[in-house]
Amino acid sequence: MISLVSNRGRLNILDDSNLLAKEVAERFLTLALGYMSEKAQFTVALAGGITPRLLYQKLSEDKYAEKVPWAKTFLFFGDERCVAHTDPESNYLLVKNTLASKVAIPTVNVNRLEGQDTDPKEAAHEYENTIKTFFELQPGEFPSFDLMLLGLGPDGHTASLFPGTKALNETEHICVANYVEKFGHHRITLTYPVINKAKNVFFLVTGASKADIVKDVLQGEEGVYPAQFVNPINAHDEGGNLEWFLDKAAASKLDLAVPMV
Ligand code: 6PG
Repeated sequence: MISLVSNRGRLNILDDSNLLAKEVAERFLTLALGYMSEKAQFTVALAGGITPRLLYQKLSEDKYAEKVPWAKTFLFFGDERCVAHTDPESNYLLVKNTLASKVAIPTVNVNRLEGQDTDPKEAAHEYENTIKTFFELQPGEFPSFDLMLLGLGPDGHTASLFPGTKALNETEHICVANYVEKFGHHRITLTYPVINKAKNVFFLVTGASKADIVKDVLQGEEGVYPAQFVNPINAHDEGGNLEWFLDKAAASKLDLAVPMV
């Protein structure tokens, strides 16, 4: 693994997606055990899409299935598609099939959205209340997830913060229904104030198809892509940790000779 510090956080480059999943699973376990001893709970906002599938499968296997303190691990969703939980597009279904149904995590610890397929705005409001209750937030306060897993779309979106959408400017709400023109429907997403308050933010990006956007986001002009506004390092209180986990294919266009600090 190549690991280097950049002004966009630590870059961890693994040979392939399987090794990436194993490395992130190791880090997940380390964080879980660390927060368990510190505060007897580990809170995670999960990424959707295809990339994290290997990670979730890895976490459901032997060592991780046994060693992660699942009874005190609490899973949330960084974003969700506005489809039924039985729909192949559902991020909840991905997590249920690859992880939640395979490890000893209490159902109540997997905080899925409800009603996202019938009333996105109401579902976002309800999910926000779920998060506020769980984290015992004061009015106007944002939660600080111990770990926020994120992916990167070819257009530079992350979670469901897509270019040109309203949610990019959201500063009040924890979670919103975000209309995405190119899909012709809403997505539900956590917002930047939440993402940037996380103690650890891990981007997971694999495959040659992401090489161009990885190059643009990490070494291109700043302030262009939604993923570039993820910056927990500047979180004024917690000083969050931002790391990128890339396989060689996704990192193939990065100029690693250029110091990025
Ligand atoms: C989603 C995600 C989204 C995803 C990127 C990358 O619900 O789709 O949260 O932000 O991480 O689109 O998706 P892939 O991993 O499928 O390339």
